[in-house]
Amino acid sequence: MKFIEQHIQQVEKIAEGYKGQEPLHLYLKKFFKRNKKFGSRDRKNIASYLYGAYRMGRENRHLTMRQRVYFYLFLSNKGNADVLPDDFADLPPLLSSSFKKKIDFLRSKYKLRETYRAQDEISKKIDSERYRNSFYNDPKVYIRIRNNSAKDYEKVIKENDGQQEEAHVFSFPSQVKLHTFLEEKNYVVQDINSQRTAHYFPNLNETSDVWDCCAGSGGKSILLLDTHKNVNLTVTDIRASILRSLLERFELYGLEVDMLAEMNINKAKELDVLEGRFFDFIICDVPCTGSGTWARTPEQFYFFEKKEISRFQKRQLDILENASSRLKKSGSILYITCSVFTKENEDVVTLFLEKHSDFKIGKQHYLDGTSSQADTLFITQLLK
Ligand SMILES: C[S@@+](CC[C@H](N)C(=O)[O-])C[C@H]1O[C@@H](n2cnc3c(N)ncnc32)[C@H](O)[C@@H]1O
Repeated sequence: MKFIEQHIQQVEKIAEGYKGQEPLHLYLKKFFKRNKKFGSRDRKNIASYLYGAYRMGRENRHLTMRQRVYFYLFLSNKGNADVLPDDFADLPPLLSSSFKKKIDFLRSKYKLRETYRAQDEISKKIDSERYRNSFYNDPKVYIRIRNNSAKDYEKVIKENDGQQEEAHVFSFPSQVKLHTFLEEKNYVVQDINSQRTAHYFPNLNETSDVWDCCAGSGGKSILLLDTHKNVNLTVTDIRASILRSLLERFELYGLEVDMLAEMNINKAKELDVLEGRFFDFIICDVPCTGSGTWARTPEQFYFFEKKEISRFQKRQLDILENASSRLKKSGSILYITCSVFTKENEDVVTLFLEKHSDFKIGKQHYLDGTSSQADTLFITQLLK
């Protein structure tokens, strides 16, 4: 039996046990730790086929696992004529055809379904077909070069298949091993659209008080301090473990926070830990479905339930409500999600403004990553 067929059988077994209970990469790590017989090439292929099957979506469960894996390889240009088996002999002649022609063929011959749950929830500002099809392209790894002049790195970055996207921003194919040619403290891994949120920061100086209220491991905070060195920064998050990783990153990069606290911002009472602090600028990078990043985590797309959108909307509104109670007069909030759903984005802003006539919208945009193998973010400046 060909290796690929053995690997697909393995994919089938893993998929039986995996129900979306944790990120797929962690589940796979544990699986391969228990099953030491797989070499590194086997592991890489099995993982790629499994991710590919999830990229085909839950709507295509009527297809066999073999079909889903081979169709994924066909659509994503990863399967050449040698890879596709004899019982799919109708696919190789179409390998160099356009994506549209390939998908139309699968739709008519194999009843491939391209509609998906929550398609009707996608913002009118996003092309929903392009969004869906972007899942067949591996997202790129984006980095920002810190401190040093990006020029110092041009040669080594080119040698490792990197491309310059903006002055300090470079992209790489998804399997890149950055630590083998870059010193850790000199770069930050961050999606290009996350980096572009810096264009929406207000004018700040050393007297500015800033609060990153859902700071996570500090992606936006590091970006803020890299672009506005001297602000006074408070960071909070509901998870102590993620704040520990924020601190480790701050130490690596030589950055400092004014205050750090574990806090559930959904509970107004917990804001007491901020004592008398009020802020000029609040970053609300809220928890969300993450639908703008599902090309990186197709398992989330696969297991997602539509009712989760409304649950997130409620949490997002509570977060905005409580955060805004700590904003100084003439301050601003930056509301950010990595979702493509109207309910988590435009609707949250509208519902917030209905209760807060002292706020108005500054800029509001989708940072659309569907054609650049990047994440899609929604961003709104709320000005008081
Ligand atoms: C989108 S992530 C933030 C990502 C981060 N800003 C970055 O750029 O790396 C959202 C964060 O909100 C946190 N969170 C979720 N619910 C929360 C709550 N009720 N109060 C505070 N933080 C919360 C999560 O733990 C998560 O780290």
